[in-house]
Amino acid sequence: MRKLATLKRLFDDRALYCQLIVTRRCNLACGYCNEFDAVSKPVPYEELIRWMDHLIDELGVTIMDFLGGEPLLHPRIADLVRHAHEKGCWTNIITNGLLLSDDLVEALNSAGLDSMCVSIDRVNPTDFTHKGLRPLRRKLARLRERADFQVECNAVLCEETFDEFEELVLELKALGFPVRCGVRHYEGKLDLNEAVRERLEWFHSHFRHWRIAPMMDLHRARIDGNAPEWKCTGGYKFLYIDEFGTVKACSQVSLREPKHVLDMSVADLKANDHHKPCEKECGVSCVIQTSLITANPIGYAARCAQHLIQTRGQGVAYGGFQKASTRRRAEREAEKTGVGAGT
Ligand SMILES: C[S@@+](CC[C@H](N)C(=O)[O-])C[C@H]1O[C@@H](n2cnc3c(N)ncnc32)[C@H](O)[C@@H]1O
Ligand code: SF4
Ligand code: SF4
Repeated sequence: MRKLATLKRLFDDRALYCQLIVTRRCNLACGYCNEFDAVSKPVPYEELIRWMDHLIDELGVTIMDFLGGEPLLHPRIADLVRHAHEKGCWTNIITNGLLLSDDLVEALNSAGLDSMCVSIDRVNPTDFTHKGLRPLRRKLARLRERADFQVECNAVLCEETFDEFEELVLELKALGFPVRCGVRHYEGKLDLNEAVRERLEWFHSHFRHWRIAPMMDLHRARIDGNAPEWKCTGGYKFLYIDEFGTVKACSQVSLREPKHVLDMSVADLKANDHHKPCEKECGVSCVIQTSLITANPIGYAARCAQHLIQTRGQGVAYGGFQKASTRRRAEREAEKTGVGAGT
């Protein structure tokens, strides 16, 4: 049912993907980030449930990211995930991972979480970004053992992370985690240059990221100075809901006519289906990707398939992490048949 609804979203006028801010408060203060504070209270649970019901039932959302600030600071994060899951959404948490515990992983397993993106920028934390692999190694190992959901990592690529980027990516790859790489944006704007390109190309030679092949094409074309036009679907197919319930085009840009999520209709979504003045320099990758997919789903899929074929034999295809639940099932089967799980 969920896959069918998601497929429908690619061809109708309702929203596909939503990022829900469950608290603006964060336990860190990364040097590139403007999406947090140190004092906000969690958005009340009942309020978030009302927003989610409207987003899913009325506006059509089938993919829901929980983020902040730091979403694991919300005391009812697992209950929020359960609600979205029971309503048929793909649920994903984007987190700095520092607050993960075995109990929380268990609660998220039982809530039906589908995936988690752990943000890690370097091997060793610095004052600029505390999101280092060093303090997270043990937590990643526990996730690998216990998580019934998919886990991937996201590294922000910028001057302050260049020096350890290769080391980070190679260690995460050796640990079996797929890695995404987000180029740092400055209030939504990218500063693409040759140094970034070099690292992106190196990165893509290790991970065959078929899902983002069209976005890489866009980045390359921009660096070469001949970027094609694209249309941002922020406020239409992609919705960012801030901690007050206001719908924004993305984390960085408000809509021309800002509305509270509960006042939003499908006609309002459609009214936001227009070009945005910031498209040329946009660096908000989740919106770019959603926009490229929904603009031309078949062309997007064809480009991804072509990328996989062209890069055959060159590195790991994206999505290599095997969920603990899948491994456990394989081990149980192996015990029954007497064949080793790894054979
Ligand atoms: C705003 S954070 C919220 C969730 C959580 N606190 C975390 O860090 O994962 C969501 C994602 O945006 C990324 N991010 C924040 N500011 C960014 C920027 N200026 N450029 C690129 N990515 C950024 C973070 O690294 C993280 O992966
Ligand atoms: S941990 Fe996430 S929300 Fe907090 S400051 Fe860093 S990027 Fe921003
Ligand atoms: S083009 Fe869209 S996603 Fe990019 S910065 Fe502008 S509003 Fe945000």
